[in-house]
Amino acid sequence: MEVHQLFDPKTSSYTYLLWDDASRQAALIDPVHDQVSRDIRLLRELDLKLLYTLETHVHADHITGSGLLRESLNSLVLVHEDCGSKCADILVKDDDLIPLGAGKIRVMHTPGHTPGDVSYLIPGIAFTGDTLLIRGCGRTDFQSGDPGTLYDSITRKLFTLPDDTIVYPGHDYDGRSYTTIGEEKSLNPRVGKGKSRADFISIMNNLKLDPPQFIHEALPSNLRCGITEYEQGTLHH
Ligand SMILES: [Fe+2]
Repeated sequence: MEVHQLFDPKTSSYTYLLWDDASRQAALIDPVHDQVSRDIRLLRELDLKLLYTLETHVHADHITGSGLLRESLNSLVLVHEDCGSKCADILVKDDDLIPLGAGKIRVMHTPGHTPGDVSYLIPGIAFTGDTLLIRGCGRTDFQSGDPGTLYDSITRKLFTLPDDTIVYPGHDYDGRSYTTIGEEKSLNPRVGKGKSRADFISIMNNLKLDPPQFIHEALPSNLRCGITEYEQGTLHH
């Protein structure tokens, strides 16, 4: 399976285009509303047919492009069943396999940042959303986040993958593009070597972060697959 990493500078969000070479079937993980025309152009240039948009969770920091992509390309919107989405076509759960040409994308339920967080796995690569970031992890102080649950998802699920597994995160604010399971096991300052579950919970409960800039816009909109109220009035179904 081929992978192309894309970036939204306004929100430091990564989108991933995955495709199967022979069939040209494609999926987008975490598309961003403002980047939909870029993504459609890239799909056309590479002669790809977008079958799915895969959300790692309901985002609080950017608006998803999944609804607009569905309007334009008839792709199916996939989210985890615990996301509370009102607009998804398919609700996925742990261990589901999503076919893409000759390959398959495996769903690993990794809750904690939110109850509906998943990681998507293909051979040698994990797309971890906000569950595991480069030297960090998603916050747990809103959207029903839970630090103990997040610790268990990272250490009992993601850290059982081989050390050389490439980790593609949902964001990076420092210009880095990927990490590996082995690197995070030893170097992640919150959950890496020497950090207990109690240490992790105490770190997460004392981060004192400001709410994300676009939360009031993003959360309600993302439960509708990122279609804004204005677009809802103008789109024809
Ligand atoms: Fe998030």
